[in-house]
Amino acid sequence: MTPTPLHRNTLFYGDNLPILRDHIPDESVDLIYLDPPFNSNRSYNVLFKSESGNDPDSQIQAFDDTWHWGESAEAMYDELTHGQNQDVAGMISALRQFIHENQMMAYLVMMAARLIELHRVLKPTGSLYLHCDPTASHYLKVVLDTIFGVENFRNEIVWCYTRPSSPVKQFPRTHDDLFFYTKTDRHTFNRDDVRIPYDEETIARSNRNPGNKSVMGGKGTDRLNPLGKIPESWWPIPMLQGNSNERLGYPTQKPLALLERIIQASSNPGDIVLDPFSGCGTSIAAAQKLGRRWIGIDITHLAIEAHKRRLREHYTIEPGKDYDVIGEPEDLTSARQLARDDRYQFQWWALSLIKARPLGGSEGSKVGKKGSDKGIDGLIPFIDDASKKLKHVIVSVKSGHVNSPMLRDLHGVIDREVDAPIGVFITLEEPTSDMKKEAVSAGFYKSDLWQKQYPRLQILTIEQLLAGEEVKMPPQYGTFKKAEKVRFEDGTQSELGL
Ligand SMILES: C[S@@+](CC[C@H](N)C(=O)[O-])C[C@H]1O[C@@H](n2cnc3c(N)ncnc32)[C@H](O)[C@@H]1O
Repeated sequence: MTPTPLHRNTLFYGDNLPILRDHIPDESVDLIYLDPPFNSNRSYNVLFKSESGNDPDSQIQAFDDTWHWGESAEAMYDELTHGQNQDVAGMISALRQFIHENQMMAYLVMMAARLIELHRVLKPTGSLYLHCDPTASHYLKVVLDTIFGVENFRNEIVWCYTRPSSPVKQFPRTHDDLFFYTKTDRHTFNRDDVRIPYDEETIARSNRNPGNKSVMGGKGTDRLNPLGKIPESWWPIPMLQGNSNERLGYPTQKPLALLERIIQASSNPGDIVLDPFSGCGTSIAAAQKLGRRWIGIDITHLAIEAHKRRLREHYTIEPGKDYDVIGEPEDLTSARQLARDDRYQFQWWALSLIKARPLGGSEGSKVGKKGSDKGIDGLIPFIDDASKKLKHVIVSVKSGHVNSPMLRDLHGVIDREVDAPIGVFITLEEPTSDMKKEAVSAGFYKSDLWQKQYPRLQILTIEQLLAGEEVKMPPQYGTFKKAEKVRFEDGTQSELGL
C-alpha cells in the first residue's frame, strides 16, 4: 500500500502497526524512540503462565489485549513465521518452543511485527532506541539482533534511578534498559552535543599526574576535553518526582532530560523523530524543544489529549493550526463508531473536546478501574476570586441513552460541592425536553472576578461540540508553566515532506 503523504508534524490516534504500514514510507525517519507498555509490576511468573483467555481484566484496558496470547497473537505469529524474513521466522518459532503461549510470548510477537516496520521506515543513517526493563530485555535483544543485525547493536544503556523500595530477598529493581541500534554504521552520533562534566575524581586524578600528556599535548586538567566527557552507557537521571513541574500525571511518563540526550545524540535539527508509543508525549516535547520534526502515535485518546495539552501549554502550538492529528472522530458518524468500539476511548475523546481532565486514572492501564466516580467523568479547573482557590466545572459524558435522572444526579453534585459550581453534561444522543427544563431550572453562577454569569447546568451534544460550541465558564486554569515558543532555524521545520 502506498503510504498517505504526511505534510507536517503529526499525532496519530490508533494502533501503531497499521499506522506505520499505511502512513510511514520506507527510509523516511531519522530517529525512533519507543517505550512500549509492559506491566513488569505483575508477578514475573504470571507473564509465563499459560493463558486460558479468561483473565477477567483482559478486556478492560485499552491496549492490554495486544499483550495477551489469543487470536491476534496467533495470527501475528503466523504472519511472522510465513513472512519473507527467514531469520525472523526462525527466531520467533524458536522462542515459542521454549516460552510457550503466554503474555511474554504475545508481547514478543507483537513487538517483532512492529520492529520489522520500524526497521523499514528508518533511514540508512537512522537510529532506534528501545526502552524496556529487565522483565523482557533479554528476549527483546534477541529480536532486535535478528531484525537489525548484531553488527548494528551500539549500546545497552542503563537508565538508573533511585526510588523507595525495600524488597526482602533481592536487590531493588531500579533501572531500565535502552537498546540503541542503528540501521547501518553511517548513523548520526553527535557526541559533542551530549557531553557532561567530568566527575571530581577524574579531574583530581588528572591534576595529580600533570606530567601525563594527552594526545592533544595538554597537561593535567588541560588534557580533559573542555566540553566535558561523553556520557557512559549508564545514565543516572532522576525519575520524575511528584512535585516536578514536568509531571503531567501520566504514570509511565519519562523525564525530558532522558529524551533530550537521545535526540541530541542521534539526530540533527530538522530531522524526523518518531515515537510509536508516545504516551504523554515526552519524546515529542523534547523533539519540539530541540527543533526536530516529529511523529507521535498512541492508542488512547487520553494520551493524545495529554500531547495536545503539553504542546499547547509548553510551546503554544495548536492541533490543526500548527500540526495534524489523524484518527480522531471528525463527524457524528465516526463519533458513534468510536462509542460503539470503546466507550472509555469515546469518553476521553469527548472530554478532550472541551479540554477537561479525565477522572479515574490518567493512562489506559489505570482507567479501566473507573466507575467509582458517580457519573463524574472529568473536571475543568478555573480560578475566579481573589483567594486564587481552584474551582471546577464537573463534566459527565454519556455515549448511550440519556434521561432526566442522569442530569438530576449532576445537578445534585453541583448543589453539594461548594468548589464545583458548574456542571456540564455531554451527550451523543439528543437530550429530552425534560432534561432541557432541568438544566434551565439550575439557574446561573455569578463570577465576581470576571463579572459574568454562566449557566450552572449545561447540556452539550457531541454534534454541537463538533460544530465548535464551547462550555460557558470563566477562563480555564492551566497547570503548566509556559515555555518559550520554540523557534525553528529553517522554514522547513514544520513540514514533514514524507
Ligand atoms: C509506557 S507508555 C509511553 C510513555 C512515554 N514514553 C512518555 O514518556 O509519556 C506506552 C504507551 O503506549 C501506548 N500503546 C500501547 N499499545 C499501543 C499500540 N499498539 N499502538 C500505539 N500505542 C500503543 C499506550 O497507550 C501508552 O500510552
